[in-house]
Order: sequence, then structure tokens, then C-alpha cells
Amino acid sequence: MKKILVTGANGLLGHKLVSLLSQQQDVSLMATAKGICRFFLPDNVVYRNLDITNTDACKNLFNEFKPDALINAAAMTQVDTCEDEREACDLINITGVSNLIKAIGKRNTHFVHLSTDFIYEGDEEEYFEDSKVNPLNYYGRSKWKSEQLFEKVSFPYSILRTVLVYGVRQDLSPTNIVLWAKAVLEKGEKINVVDDQYRCPTIAEDVALACLQVIQENATGVYHVCGKDFLSILDIVFEIADYWGLDKSLIHSISTVDLNQKARRPLKTNLNVSKAKQVFNYQPKSFREGLKLLDEQMKKLKE
Ligand SMILES: NC(=O)c1ccc[n+]([C@@H]2O[C@H](COP(=O)([O-])OP(=O)(O)OC[C@H]3O[C@@H](n4cnc5c(N)ncnc54)[C@H](OP(=O)(O)O)[C@@H]3O)[C@@H](O)[C@H]2O)c1
Repeated sequence: MKKILVTGANGLLGHKLVSLLSQQQDVSLMATAKGICRFFLPDNVVYRNLDITNTDACKNLFNEFKPDALINAAAMTQVDTCEDEREACDLINITGVSNLIKAIGKRNTHFVHLSTDFIYEGDEEEYFEDSKVNPLNYYGRSKWKSEQLFEKVSFPYSILRTVLVYGVRQDLSPTNIVLWAKAVLEKGEKINVVDDQYRCPTIAEDVALACLQVIQENATGVYHVCGKDFLSILDIVFEIADYWGLDKSLIHSISTVDLNQKARRPLKTNLNVSKAKQVFNYQPKSFREGLKLLDEQMKKLKE
């Protein structure tokens, strides 16, 4: 039995990790999150409250559970909020990771950490794991600093950099581009979408599976883990409208400068995933395949 501890289990990736890991015969799972449990808790999963900014709480829980692997899905992920609330961003995205590293201490726990395409500037045609890093916003900087914390650790670790993660949570809350655009278009409201930012949209299930695969394969180091297609945000929203037969005339294109977002965003983050494919057989879904999976799940949740 492999003992795996997940942090941030109330989040989108956290939900998917609980669902995937609870179905593994050889995994004993402890799911943790800040505050009360906001997801369906399978019988074979232990739930504990854990705020990763609390150093002692992290240490105590590690001493008690002694995990073989840790997947850190906890983070402050709202990019504009990070720009405004820098101390809180540092506390969660950097100090929180440092606390988990300290909690592992001299153990041989495999630490799986999640990072982002926002560590890149977005001016290259394609990015590889060793490409130049130059985050444009505070969120990206905090995640890059969190990656650097691993430079001196003595336990095995994997850093998975992912991109524009979407999926459906059990409460159906519209926390990502797909559910948000679908909901707005279904209401018949006009939607302004940037046409000069490009991403590889990633279904959360693919990231959750990659987390499990790196543990199973002992695949350490840094990996890009994102969706198969590289699309503009405008094309992403057109695809969403197309999939659900929604009115495309409501979609209006706008450029990044006109959108006037608080935090700067990289324009193009085309992350090459060859390394993940080669080392642990990562098989990213196309955006269409991801939409199909999400659609099936939404139908089941509404039954
Ligand atoms: N979403 C994306 O598009 C995207 C893209 C690239 C990389 N990533 C990375 O992927 C990882 C997972 O993101 P996600 O999409 O699952 O984000 P998410 O849905 O926002 O989940 C993050 C979770 O972390 C929790 N959290 C915040 N502070 C915490 C603390 N002090 N202690 C414990 N938990 C805390 C949040 O709790 P509350 O729910 O209570 O706020 C939330 O449930 C993150 O590392 C993120 O940086 C995400």
C-alpha cells in the first residue's frame, strides 16, 4: 500500500485527485484541505483539515500519517487577486510549499508539486522544460519561487507545469473558462474574449493522472503536462459554443490591451509535452475530447 497525502483537495485538481486515487487498489489516501470538506468523500479516504501556511500543522500531520508521496494541489490561483494581495500570495504559494518541504524533513517522501505556464514570458513559439523563465505577473513569480525551493532538497520530487486547467467539480461551480463561457452563452449574454492569448487547455483529469503516473514511475524532475491543442482563447470559446450548439454571434473578440486585466498575462504558452510522453507515457486529450468528458460528467451530476 502506498500512502499518499493530497493538499488543497477542495480545489478542482484536488477533487479529481481524490476521485482517481480513491479508486486505486494499492493507494491509501489522506485528503486534506483548508476548512471543511467540500467534496464527496469516499469511504476509503481519510479527510483532515490542513492549512499549508501552518508550519506546525503540516509537521504534525506528516508525523502522524508518514506519507510515501505528497501531491500539493493547494495554491492561490486567482491571477489578479495575487497581484493585489501579494503577501497572501507569497504565504500560500511559497511559504506553504516551504512548510511542506520542512514537514517531509529527512524522510524519503516523493513530493509532487504543481506549477504553471505563467512562469514563461510568452514570446517563444514553443516552451521546453529548460526554456528561459521570465514571469510577467506576481502569481507566476510566486510559482517560480516555489519551484526554486526544490533546488536543495534531498527527497525525490516532481514539478508538473500545467496550463489553463478546466473541468467540472461536484458542486458544478463555474470556476474555469469552459463552465464560465458555457454559462454566459446559455444565458444569451454577450461575451468579450481575447484573441491574442494562446493556451493549451488541459482537462483536470489529465493532470490528476499525471500526478499518479509520476509517483508510480518514480519520474522525478520537471515536466510539462498540458492539453494536446494549442488554441487562442477566442477559438477555445468558439469550440465551447460549437460543442453545445450555442449562439456564436454573442462572442466578441478583444485584444489583451483592451481587456485591461490587472495582472499581465503571457501571450503564447505552447508547452511541449514530449518529455512527459516519453518518461511516463503522458497522453494528453484534445480539447474536444476534454469537452466530451466534461459534458458526460455534468449530465451524471445533474441526474
Ligand atoms: N487552474 C489553472 O488554470 C492552473 C493553471 C496552471 C497551473 N495551475 C496549478 O495547479 C494547481 C491546482 O490548481 P487548481 O486549478 O486545482 O486551483 P483551485 O481550484 O483554485 O484549487 C486550489 C485550492 O487550494 C486551496 N488553498 C488555498 N490556500 C490554501 C491553504 N493555505 N491551505 C490549504 N489549501 C489552500 C484553495 O482553497 P479554497 O477552495 O478554500 O480557496 C483551493 O481549494 C495549483 O498549484 C495551480 O497553481 C492551475
